[in-house]
Amino acid sequence: SVEKMKGNSTILVTGGAGYVGSHTVVELLKNNYTVIAIDNNVNCYATGKDKPESLKRVEKITGESVTYYNVDIRDKEALDKVFKLHKIDSVIHFAALKAVGESVQIPLTYYQNNVGGSSTLFEVMAKNGVKKLVFSSSATVYGTPQFLPITEKHPTGQGCTNPYGKTKYFVEEILKDVCTSDSDWKVVLLRYFNPVGAHESGLIGEDPSGIPNNLMPYISQVAVGRREKLQVFGSDYPTVDGTGVRDYIHISDLAIGHLKALERMLQPHYTSWKAYNLGTGRGYSVLEMVKAFSEVSGRQIKYELVERREGDIAACYADASLARAELNWTATRDIKAMCRDTWNWQKKNPKGFQTS
Ligand code: NAD
Ligand code: WQD
Repeated sequence: SVEKMKGNSTILVTGGAGYVGSHTVVELLKNNYTVIAIDNNVNCYATGKDKPESLKRVEKITGESVTYYNVDIRDKEALDKVFKLHKIDSVIHFAALKAVGESVQIPLTYYQNNVGGSSTLFEVMAKNGVKKLVFSSSATVYGTPQFLPITEKHPTGQGCTNPYGKTKYFVEEILKDVCTSDSDWKVVLLRYFNPVGAHESGLIGEDPSGIPNNLMPYISQVAVGRREKLQVFGSDYPTVDGTGVRDYIHISDLAIGHLKALERMLQPHYTSWKAYNLGTGRGYSVLEMVKAFSEVSGRQIKYELVERREGDIAACYADASLARAELNWTATRDIKAMCRDTWNWQKKNPKGFQTS
C-alpha cells in the first residue's frame, strides 16, 4: 500500500531550493512523488523572485518539472493559497536560517524566521487538514554530548549554546505539543549530523554565500583556489589527532532518509512523533577530512592550526541504528564519495550556481 500511495502523494517542500531541499526534491521526483517547492530565496541563487537556479538544475537532473512558489513561511495568506491550490498530502519542512554565528548577532531574526515561521506553517497545515510533517532538525539539539555515539534518547535542549540550535530544539518541542493536542498529527523529527557532498551529477551542491562557515565548503574552496588556506579550529581536543571530530553524511544519503521517513509516517499504525538520527555512525577529524579531500582532488590543501572556535565541541557522532531498524535506512556513501562529489560540484561550478 505504501507503493500505491507513493505515486499519488503530493509533498510540499519548504526551503526546497536550499542545499538539503534540492537534493531531497531530486529523490522525491525519482520516486514518483509530486513536489510543490516553496522558498523565499533568502539563501539560494535566483533572479529576483524567479525559480531558483538550484530547482532548474533539479529539473535538468530528473527531466521532471518542479512547481515552485516564492512564498515566505511567515506569510500565512500566501501559504494558505498554496494549500488551496494543491491537494497536499505531507510537508517536508526545511525552510530556516542556519548560520550559527549570525544567529548570535541577530537572534530575534532567527527566532522569528525559524520558530515563528514554523508555527505559522503548522497552523496553516492544520487549518487545511494536512497533519503529516517531516522536520529538519539537527544534532545540535543534543548540545555537548554526554555520551558517544549519540542515541535519540540523549537529552535535548540542555547546552544548546547558540540561538540557531535553540530554534531547532524549540520547534521540536512545539511539534511534540501539537501531537499531544491532536492525535491526527504524524511527525518525524530528523536530526542531521554533518551533511556534505553533492549530487553525483555535479549539477547541484552546497553554495554558501560569502565566506563558508562549514568545513567541507571551506576545504573545497581552498582546493579550487578561491581561498588561500583553511584555518583548523583547535588542535588540542581529546581526539585522534587533536582536531574536532564529526559525523559527516553524504547529502544524497540524507535526502533518501527523508523518503524513508515519509514512508514510515504513511504506515497506518504510525502515530504522534518520533525522532531519528541521520548520520553514518562514524566520526572523522578535521585533518582526516583534509587528507581525504586532498587525495581525491589531487590538490594540496593549505592549512594552519589556530585557536578553538567558540561554542565548538570536541567530538560528535551518531548512533544510527534506530533509523536502520525503523526507517530501513542506512548511509551507503563513504568519505571518499563525499569528497569526490563535493570536488566534482566545486570544479564544475567554481562560483556555485552563479557560474551558470
Ligand atoms: P539552506 O539555507 O541551503 O536551505 C534553506 C532554504 O530555506 C533556503 O533556500 C532559504 O532561502 C529558505 N528559507 C529560509 N527562510 C525562509 C522563509 N522564511 N520562507 C521560505 N523559505 C525560507 O540550508 P540547508 O543546509 O539546506 O538546511 C535545510 C534545513 O536543514 C534547515 O532547516 C537547517 O537548519 C537544517 N539543517 C541543516 C544542516 C546543515 O549542516 N546543512 C544540519 C542540520 C540541520
Ligand atoms: C566541523 C568541524 C570545526 C570550519 C555546524 C552547526 C550545526 C549543523 C552543522 C545545522 C569542527 C572545524 C570548521 C573551518 C575548521 N548545522 N572547522 N575550520 O560545527 O559540526 O556543525 O553545521 O544544524 O548546528 O553547528 O560543522 O562544518 O562548521 O565544523 O577547523 O573553517 O570543522 O571546528 O570541528 P559543525 P562545521
